[in-house]
Amino acid sequence: MTETPQPGQAPTRLVSHFLNRDRSNQSSGWAELWDTDQSDFWDRGKPSPALIDWIESQPEVLSSTSNRRPKALIPGCGKGYDVAMLALHGFDVYGLDVSQKGIETARAYAEAELREPSLYNFATESNGSLAESSIGSVWFIQSDFFQRDWEKEVAAEGFEGFDLIYDYTFLCALPPEMRKDWARRMSELLAPSGVLACLEFPLYKDLGAPGPPWGLKGVHWNLLAEGGDGMIGEESANDTRPLKGSFDRVAYFQPPRSYENGKGTDMFSCWRLK
Ligand SMILES: C[S@@+](CC[C@H](N)C(=O)[O-])C[C@H]1O[C@@H](n2cnc3c(N)ncnc32)[C@H](O)[C@@H]1O
Repeated sequence: MTETPQPGQAPTRLVSHFLNRDRSNQSSGWAELWDTDQSDFWDRGKPSPALIDWIESQPEVLSSTSNRRPKALIPGCGKGYDVAMLALHGFDVYGLDVSQKGIETARAYAEAELREPSLYNFATESNGSLAESSIGSVWFIQSDFFQRDWEKEVAAEGFEGFDLIYDYTFLCALPPEMRKDWARRMSELLAPSGVLACLEFPLYKDLGAPGPPWGLKGVHWNLLAEGGDGMIGEESANDTRPLKGSFDRVAYFQPPRSYENGKGTDMFSCWRLK
C-alpha cells in the first residue's frame, strides 16, 4: 500500500478515504476505491515473492492432502495475483473480495495468466515447467469475509476447511476493532491440518498511526498465539502473555524476497490450529 506519512505530514489519500468510516462502512469504502479505479493504492503488480519462495521450498504443503488438490483461500484477493500464482503451483484456489469490480478484474487477470503464465509466478525460470502438468482451478467469489453465506459455494463433500489461507494486506486493511473477528474467521475456515500463512506488513509503522494500512507489529502474535483482541499499543507490543490463542506458530522468518514497500521489515509467519 502507499507510503505512511511522517509526523506532521498530511494523512495519505487512503487514510483520508477511511477516516470517520465505522465498521459498517468499510466494505463500501473498498468498493468505492475499486469503482473509481483507485486500486493503485495497494496493487503491487505481481504475486507475492515471499509466498512463491515459501511454496516452492515446502513441497509438503502440497502433499499434505491425500488424493486431491490442496485448497487455498486468499481473502481480500484484490487483482488476484496470488490466486493465479497458487493455481500455477497446483492448488485449487478461491479468491474472495468484497468488491464486484475487484472480482471481475481478478477473474480476467487469472484467466489470462493461466493461459500464458508470466515468469514472475515462479522463483526461478525453470520452475515454470511445474505449471504445465499441474495447474489447479480458480474460483472468484464476491462476498464479505466476515459473513458465512459464501462458504456454501466452497463446501463440497468431505470439505473440512482450507489447506492453505494466505493473508497479505488484508488484516492491515481492517480497522483494529475488526481484528479479533479476523482471527475467529481464520480458525473457522482453516482445515484441522491446514496452514494459515501471513506476510506480516507493515511492521515499520507505528501501532497508533491511522490506517489503512494499519501497523501490525506484534498483532498476529497477540491475536493468534495469545488469543488477544489485537488492539495492542506500542508500549505493550513486546509483553509476554499466556498463550491462550487457537493457533501455534510453526514457522517465523524474514523472507529472502518481499515487496519493496515492506522496507526490509516484512516477516512471514505460518500457523496451525491447536
Ligand atoms: C489492501 S487491498 C489488498 C489486495 C490484495 N491482497 C493485494 O495485495 O493486492 C484489500 C482488499 O481487501 C478487500 N476487502 C476489504 N474488506 C473485505 C471484506 N470484508 N471481505 C472481503 N474482501 C475485503 C478490498 O476490496 C481490497 O481488494
